[in-house]
Amino acid sequence: MEYANILVRQEQGVGIVQFNRPKALNALNREMMAEVMHALEQFDADPGIGCLLVTGNERAFAAGADIKEMAQATPVDMLNNPFIDYWDRLRRLAKPLVAAVSGFALGGGCEFAMACDMIVASESAQFGQPEINLGVIPGAGGTQRLTRAVGKALAMEMILADRRLNADEAVRYGLANRVVPVESYLDEAIRFAVTIAAQAPVAARLAKEAINAAFETSLQAGLAHERRLFYLLFSTEDQKEGMDAFVNKRRAAWQGR
Ligand code: CAA
Repeated sequence: MEYANILVRQEQGVGIVQFNRPKALNALNREMMAEVMHALEQFDADPGIGCLLVTGNERAFAAGADIKEMAQATPVDMLNNPFIDYWDRLRRLAKPLVAAVSGFALGGGCEFAMACDMIVASESAQFGQPEINLGVIPGAGGTQRLTRAVGKALAMEMILADRRLNADEAVRYGLANRVVPVESYLDEAIRFAVTIAAQAPVAARLAKEAINAAFETSLQAGLAHERRLFYLLFSTEDQKEGMDAFVNKRRAAWQGR
């Protein structure tokens, strides 16, 4: 597939997708989201890739869903349009997914970053859900994911009063993992993703599954789920390799099986 709205490359086991509509501050339209999902799903199925990374540019990760595209939509247009389903598909990616966020991460852009597993934020990152200014509310998970990440009080303020978080606040309130300099944010994020890509692949995938299960289940069901995945890993060659490498004081060589 030829991509018109994104740039795609890979580096040391990391599959990198970059939003590329700079004139529109990377506003997420249908065509771009279709391309993004296609690229991410290809990387997710590629055994040479251990971690996925999505980024924008220094000025904007993404300034939201494309307002111009949906301004005249009817409810039925919205219902028949698979656009918001893409955020559900992000959730179904099996491999760890990192967002490298610089500049605006607003509306659907903030929701995209929150649908990722980890966020590396540049010093200029700005997270917000300004949909109230357009007469709507977040529609791609904002009311749910933001509330789980930062708690009810701050989520209410962000969604009802367009309170935005800077990068330091995003880390302090549990939305982002770390803040890095703007000039090197992508290199730092890639380095972070390379570390994750180098882990035992099946364990990394199941770790992600188990952590995400914490948001869907009771503690008891979550613990039982974790236990089953933990036992399952004892069927992998990588578990034997990892423990043998520890015992024999050598570096493990992962096979991904
Ligand atoms: N959709 C479509 N186009 C957008 C856009 C968006 N979300 N955000 C910015 N753009 C476009 C602007 O229309 C402008 O295009 P033109 O040059 O053709 O006029 C270009 O990007 C540059 O934007 P600005 O001139 O506005 O740049 P600025 O620096 O003055 O302001 C900004 C930057 C504060 C991010 C401002 O652009 C803005 O407020 N954008 C909208 C943010 C927003 O409301 N996002 C939520 C969208 S709704 C949503 O996401 C729903 C959902 O939950 C799924």
